[in-house]
Amino acid sequence: MRILIMLISILLFAVLSINSSAEDKAHRMDEGSQHKMHSVEDGRISLGLSPAMKQHQLANMRSHVEAVQSIIGLLSEGAFDKASHIAYSKLGLTEEMKKMCNSFENETFKNLGLAFHKSGDALGNTLKTKDLTKSLGALNTTMTYCVQCHATFRQ
Ligand code: HEC
Repeated sequence: MRILIMLISILLFAVLSINSSAEDKAHRMDEGSQHKMHSVEDGRISLGLSPAMKQHQLANMRSHVEAVQSIIGLLSEGAFDKASHIAYSKLGLTEEMKKMCNSFENETFKNLGLAFHKSGDALGNTLKTKDLTKSLGALNTTMTYCVQCHATFRQ
């Protein structure tokens, strides 16, 4: 149970830091010097996405964070099968996600995205064992990709 609470705290922290970086960005845009400030303050690699792709990506991301929350909630209830289903369908390498990842020109991003979704399928497999410790370990592995990608790339 303590591990679960720790996990939830880490997740909340991760989401809050993404939010605050979005606010920083909005603030910098207000100052009308977004490009200049980015190159000074934000060392992450820009994906150079179109406005439509940006919205699409953010919607996918919000679905990812929701999936992680659902999985943690289901784990706390011992509902491993439901959690496994969410892992496969929302975080796994579905045809849609494969297409999405392959559409990126940046090879590192593409490979990170594909590896992330494969870890989602691995999480689905581990959840099926109904072993809480192993399941938390697999969720941690999947979330390592969230953290790694956010530290490396921005839109
Ligand atoms: C392969 C890269 C990659 C992976 C893996 C990844 N993300 Fe993201 N995510 C991004 C990028 C890029 C952004 C946009 C960040 C920016 O421009 O500052 C983003 C943004 C977000 C946002 C902000 C959404 C919004 O509406 O503002 C959330 C929440 C998020 N990600 C959650 C997650 C979670 C949870 C995971 C893992 C379960 C995850 N992401 C995995 C690349 C990734």
